[in-house]
This record gives sequence, C-alpha cells and structure tokens, in this order.
Amino acid sequence: MRKRVFSGIQPTGTLHVGNYFGAVRNWAAMQDEYDCVIGIVDYHAITIDIDPDELRSASIAMALDLMACGIDPERTILIVQSDVPTHTELSWILSSVTSYGDLTRMTQFKDKSAKQEFVSAGLFTYPVLQAADILLYRAHGVPIGEDQVQHLELSRRIARRFNSRFGEYFPEPEPVVGKGARIMSLADPSIKMSKSAGEQHYVGVMEDEASIRKKIRSAVTDTGLEAGAEMSPGVENLFEILELSAEMLGDTSVATELRSEHEQGSLMYSALKDAVFERLMEILRPIQKRRAELEAAGNVVEILRDGARRAQAIADETIADVRARVGLGTG
Ligand code: TRP
Repeated sequence: MRKRVFSGIQPTGTLHVGNYFGAVRNWAAMQDEYDCVIGIVDYHAITIDIDPDELRSASIAMALDLMACGIDPERTILIVQSDVPTHTELSWILSSVTSYGDLTRMTQFKDKSAKQEFVSAGLFTYPVLQAADILLYRAHGVPIGEDQVQHLELSRRIARRFNSRFGEYFPEPEPVVGKGARIMSLADPSIKMSKSAGEQHYVGVMEDEASIRKKIRSAVTDTGLEAGAEMSPGVENLFEILELSAEMLGDTSVATELRSEHEQGSLMYSALKDAVFERLMEILRPIQKRRAELEAAGNVVEILRDGARRAQAIADETIADVRARVGLGTG
C-alpha cells in the first residue's frame, strides 16, 4: 500500500515564489509516490481577522494556483479544509490529549499573537487543528518547511498520547523533507518571503512580468565586487532562486558561471538579476498560462467538491474508529 501524506496551505489569495519553491513544487513531485491530500486550510485562516468574501474567493484562487503549479486533482485529493467539517470534530477530541504546556511553547503562536490586537483561542489551539488535519487521514508523512517542524513534533506527541490512552491507532506522522528552499524577501533578505509582510516582500507566481522584473531589479544586494568576499543574504537569495529555477529547467550552466564570477569579484549584479528574471519567468510563464486555462474551464468548485467527497470517505472511517475508542455518543 502506498503511504499517505497530508499537507496544508493557508488561503492567502495568491501563491508566491517562496511557497512554490519551498512547498508546492515538492507536493507536485510526490504525487506518483504517495497518496496525497492537500488542504487549503480555511479553518486555520479564521483564527485571525479575515473578510468572509475574501476568504472564500481566496480559497478558490488558491486551488487554481495549486493546480496550475501541477497539483493534479485526479491523483491528489485537493480540498478546502472546511468542506470536510470532520477536521474540527477530531480537533476537539485531540485537544483533550494535547498538553496545555506544549501549546504555550509554540513559537509561531508567540510570533503571531504579538502582532494581533485580539488574540483568539483559535490562534492558540491552531496546532491542534493542524494535528487533526494530519491524523484524520492517518497520514504517515507531512511535507513541511522548517517553520512547521515544531508543529509537526506536537502532532506526533498528540498521536502518541492518543494511542497510549485509547489504544494504538494513529501512525506517528514523519516529516518529509523536500528540497529545503527558504526563499527570502527580495526587499529585505533578513525575513522570509511572505505576503503578509507587504507587496514588496513577495513575488507572486501569477504576477505580471513587468512587475516581477521591477521587484527583481530592485532586490537588495550589497556594494559587492571584492574577490572572495562572503555573499550577502540578498545575493545568496538571488542565487538560490536562480539555481532552483535552473535546476528545474535542466541547465545550471549560467548559475555556475555567475557563481564563479562572484568568486572572482567580477560579477555585475545587474547580470545576476537579469538571469534570475529570465530563468524564473521560464518557470512561471507556463504556470500562468495554465492558471488562465483552468480558470476559464470554470469547474474548480466541482473539482473541490469531488476532493471533499473523497476526503470525507476517509475522514468518516477515522472518526467512527475514534468515537468508538473514546466512547463518544450512543454508538
Ligand atoms: N500551519 C501550516 C502553515 O502555516 C498550514 C497547515 C495547516 C499544515 N494544516 C497543516 C501544514 C497540516 C502541514 C500539515 O504553513
């Protein structure tokens, strides 16, 4: 039997290059080897303030973006999380085998809550829902980036505690570490590329060429041109994007050439930026074209409903087992 993996992404409205190289590209590559379930996690998104109309359209836009990037809804079960409401039932049950102390140690909660005027209980129990996402499908693996390692470790602890209290049931989900790519903001390479930091801090996968060119051209570098000098974070980041793109395109010669120029202290950053732009657009252009076709086809909601139906079938089995083990309901 093939192993199952689950991963989730927040419906942020638009996918950026950091999401693409850090996660989505790996999910697409895993589809042949694993039974994949990908959730667009709208229940998670409501833990902070978000406009209801925006949320729904962002979920649908994210589905189109993911499919355009190669997530194939025939092979992968692609869902909007709340279309399978069993996620929340399991989350409640799991909250009873989650240590309060563990939750207080989650660094993402500390970071996020510091930015909120109103800190919801949902933001605090967010990692329990994340554990439910994974365990509902009895997933063996979870492809995640570095920033989710702590949450996954908690999911494993939750699984262990459930198993020891109610009998061995959930597999302990393992991290599936893809080609770890942590793309930084072009405007401030000390922070991760993200949409929440503001327009200049991300490059959208669906963004138009002129705007992408502008962002790459104004990427922060350094004063440069010193043989053997250490690479500054901004230049490192540009090389990272260049190399990831070049690798996917199957020709890394330009990247190698530019790297040796950097070592010799003769690299013009404008040449590096042009190369990044060109290679990146070679990756993004077909994705953007595919996105337009998928949107024109007009059946994304149908596709998501089909995903939800397939996911619900698995979820129903799990929750029936869990209810029985825990002794919930009248049976
Ligand atoms: N918290 C994850 C993030 O912000 C998204 C997520 C929700 C997730 N549920 C998940 C990731 C389950 C992996 C598995 O990126």
